[in-house]
Amino acid sequence: MNCHRTVKTDSPEIKKLVALPPDATPFPKRQVYTVEDFVFFSHARHRKAGVDCKECHADVASHDNVTLEIPVTMKSCVACHNARHASVTCNTCHELGQ
Ligand code: HEC
Ligand code: HEC
Ligand code: HEC
Repeated sequence: MNCHRTVKTDSPEIKKLVALPPDATPFPKRQVYTVEDFVFFSHARHRKAGVDCKECHADVASHDNVTLEIPVTMKSCVACHNARHASVTCNTCHELGQ
């Protein structure tokens, strides 16, 4: 909750969140963007390569709720890897028969 004491404090939903007692369980956690466990994914690698959050999550920072605007598919991963000359060999994202 540290972030939302300073980030987007004018949002009605964030105000509700900040007003909760510290031990409250405000909402069931539900991950919107997700990959199966047979896929390697690391935010750090993408941040290091200068890939902006928006390229994978659209303009999430301006919304009150996280919705899946850009689906996470192998096609979308590979399309960008091709465009940016990042590796597209299967083992980059999967451990196949190793
Ligand atoms: C190259 C694409 C890509 C970029 C760039 C990226 N993300 Fe992600 N993000 C993903 C994927 C894929 C997942 C799901 C990962 C998983 O399940 O392990 C994810 C998951 C998340 C989640 C959890 C979302 C949920 O639904 O619960 C957050 C929060 C997040 N990213 C924030 C960020 C922020 C902030 C940045 C920029 C600093 C960023 N991401 C940049 C692809 C990306
Ligand atoms: C918008 C562009 C973009 C998207 C979308 C994207 N990537 Fe990447 N990815 C990159 C770039 C750029 C690099 C850095 C390549 C480098 O360091 O040379 C990278 C690096 C990686 C690496 C590290 C590669 C290595 O050589 O170690 C992995 C693993 C990876 N991406 C997995 C994924 C997966 C899985 C997805 C889809 C969920 C995804 N990426 C979506 C641009 C993208
Ligand atoms: C840049 C990352 C990336 C690369 C490279 C990649 N994949 Fe994937 N792959 C994914 C992601 C993400 C998923 C899960 C999402 C989906 O099914 O679209 C996936 C899913 C799969 C699945 C499961 C499909 C299903 O319907 O459940 C298979 C099989 C697969 N990949 C094989 C391969 C093979 C073979 C290669 C090499 C030719 C490869 N992948 C290269 C990211 C990648």
